[in-house]
Amino acid sequence: MAKKIKIFDTTLRDGEQSPGCSMNLKEKIEMAQQLERLNVDIIEAGFAAASTGDLHSIQEISKNIKNCVITSLARANKEDIDKAWESLKYATHPRIHVFIATSPIHMEYKLKLTPEQVISTAVEMVSYAKLYCNDIEFSAEDATRSNVDFLAEIFDKVIKAGATTINIPDTVGYTTPDEYYNFLTEIIEKCPSLKTIDISVHCHNDLGLGVANSLAALRAGATQIECTVNGIGERAGNAALEEIVMVLNTRKDIYGFETNIDAKQIMRSSNLLTRITGVKVQPNKAIVGANAFAHESGIHQHGVLSNKETYEIMTPESIGLDTNKLVLGKHSGRHAFNDKLKQLGYELTKEELDIAFAKFKDLADKKKDVFDKDIDALVSRQKIEVPQTFELQKYVINSGNIITSTATVTMVKEGSVIEEVAVGEGPIYASFKAIEKIVGKELELDDFSLSSITEGEDALGDAVIRLKENDHIYVGRGLSTDIIEASIKAYINAVNKIMFEQNN
Ligand code: KIV
Ligand code: ZN
Repeated sequence: MAKKIKIFDTTLRDGEQSPGCSMNLKEKIEMAQQLERLNVDIIEAGFAAASTGDLHSIQEISKNIKNCVITSLARANKEDIDKAWESLKYATHPRIHVFIATSPIHMEYKLKLTPEQVISTAVEMVSYAKLYCNDIEFSAEDATRSNVDFLAEIFDKVIKAGATTINIPDTVGYTTPDEYYNFLTEIIEKCPSLKTIDISVHCHNDLGLGVANSLAALRAGATQIECTVNGIGERAGNAALEEIVMVLNTRKDIYGFETNIDAKQIMRSSNLLTRITGVKVQPNKAIVGANAFAHESGIHQHGVLSNKETYEIMTPESIGLDTNKLVLGKHSGRHAFNDKLKQLGYELTKEELDIAFAKFKDLADKKKDVFDKDIDALVSRQKIEVPQTFELQKYVINSGNIITSTATVTMVKEGSVIEEVAVGEGPIYASFKAIEKIVGKELELDDFSLSSITEGEDALGDAVIRLKENDHIYVGRGLSTDIIEASIKAYINAVNKIMFEQNN
């Protein structure tokens, strides 16, 4: 029987540390629920000591997720470990993840500790964490630039102190597959107790080798891989979950390993993360890029039409890309709609269902065919909706190629109707200016993009706005069959997020 590899997802911790990828509480819970549907083994939900917001979101994730281990990162000190436990105490399966750097450069310049002090701190803190829970992961930060004998010694001692997983990260994305394989093989030889616990790897992608290094580590004996959806993470990111899983699924003949991942949830996980962060994956990104299953050249198209396997090594369906089928229409009832939601993995309360159903009916009136992707976009957005401090009531645009565009936007704030008019280069820009006047703030537009959820003339337009305030990025999204309305809604959504986050 194939050996099971544990998938440790750190999208909500290392991933969230990447520029422009921060998420609010609702978004983190929604993402954690999707990771549970994806069936990852461990969710690293954050770094509790980083902020009270982080601690609180790990707590909420711990309360909401029952089928995965939930972990919080902690530096090797008592305050961090106390906070990690505070954040995890409601989890069904809690894990404390303690780390300390072990490379000469980190020990000397960052920690200002001798190697002996690093060992004693690590042992003391693993024992301390063990007082709270049994499941303890220990990470040797910058392991790949650390001395092998030193690592073997520290690992042996922290295992004796109670560590149940040892992580050997390539923190700076420096190693190569052959080197990592030899390095891990030597450590395991020198520290046989590693064979009694889980060996984890955590590879950054600075040289584009994150996935290749993780796979090499499996061959050397690693039993857990740390990775993120879409490969987001510090600097060039972390090893991409979807790539690792699909390599293992597609090349079982080479690796012979299995994971618990439900690969059909890969595309939805990737889309949800993009929806939340506003950070798109490159079109040619392996597995989840828009072109990953597109066949452009005539020769390729001809081949695929005759036999898919000529150019397809895995099917789009295997990652959940079979979403272009008609699911419901305007005559579909509430019952059928709810069944579809359940199939997609959504459990809505009665109130949530009422809102979602009204939105679906509204869409079905405007759009002939409603696909899984449309429903997923509507409902996942609704679940991360923040309170609507400002609500769009109506807008009127006057635009053309011989006049300056004018937008009149009417919004409601706490029961009062506010209307403003503005001019601008094009109808969308004019609308943004009118909204700015209503909100009474000058907002910096960091980025704006438009795409469609599905194909076809009546496709839902998906607008993404990134507004910058006090060095923080707020991502707003708007959906409509009309692209101006989608853009206005996205802008208002970003403004509402600013209001929500600044008041909480
Ligand atoms: O990259 C790294 O070494 C980390 C550790 C804290 C696990 O993120
Ligand atoms: Zn990392």
